[in-house]
Amino acid sequence: MLQLESARLVGKGLHRECYEYPGDPTRCIKVVVAGNSDENRREAKYYALLAARGISWEMLSRFYGLEDTSMGLGAVFELIRDHDGGVSHTLEQYLARPSANEGLQQTLSLALPALRAYLLRDRVVTMTLKSKNILLQMTTGNSGRLVIVDNVGNSDFIPLSNYIGLLARAKIRRKWRRFEADLLIQNPDNVVLRRILRE
Ligand SMILES: Nc1ncnc2c1ncn2[C@@H]1O[C@H](COP(=O)(O)OP(=O)(O)O)[C@@H](O)[C@H]1O
Ligand SMILES: [Mg+2]
Repeated sequence: MLQLESARLVGKGLHRECYEYPGDPTRCIKVVVAGNSDENRREAKYYALLAARGISWEMLSRFYGLEDTSMGLGAVFELIRDHDGGVSHTLEQYLARPSANEGLQQTLSLALPALRAYLLRDRVVTMTLKSKNILLQMTTGNSGRLVIVDNVGNSDFIPLSNYIGLLARAKIRRKWRRFEADLLIQNPDNVVLRRILRE
């Protein structure tokens, strides 16, 4: 069983804690700290579906399976890092920076449409898209891509859109509209964001 007591905490959400995988800096492991492990299991199923379809993992953290740990069942993922080796920051963190500047505007004006196109192309369905669940992975000093690390899959009772491409794409377009609207509501004074989304 994997011991996590001395593992490095990378991030924390409402339900899970994310640790660097002991002995492997390219992976992280997420354990549930509030609630039960159903979420890890539901997520694992959806990832299996995506893997079976052979999708690209360019903008979605790759999943490596479930593993028993000293803190309960853990889900192992690729740990998203910037070109300099630091763990990537969330889009929420970038948008909250007072120094949000030209550089960020340029990066996001490419990365946001690229993420939307990726989700539609590879039919990756998400629950609510949130800026705290999307990392901006800087691939060079001034360019980067957005990578979704949480809330992937479908919570519909009968998840037809997992199997029907047309339904999936309609759902993705809806989620994306909601995401852009939420971003503007959550960052009312962010000029960079306004310019990118051309409000
Ligand atoms: N694959 C990853 N690479 C780097 N950081 C991550 C990764 N997954 C999650 N994180 C960080 O950990 C935080 C919590 O993980 P998350 O999966 O969102 O947990 P929760 O299900 O509780 O919301 C994220 O907001 C992010 O900052
Ligand atoms: Mg989260």
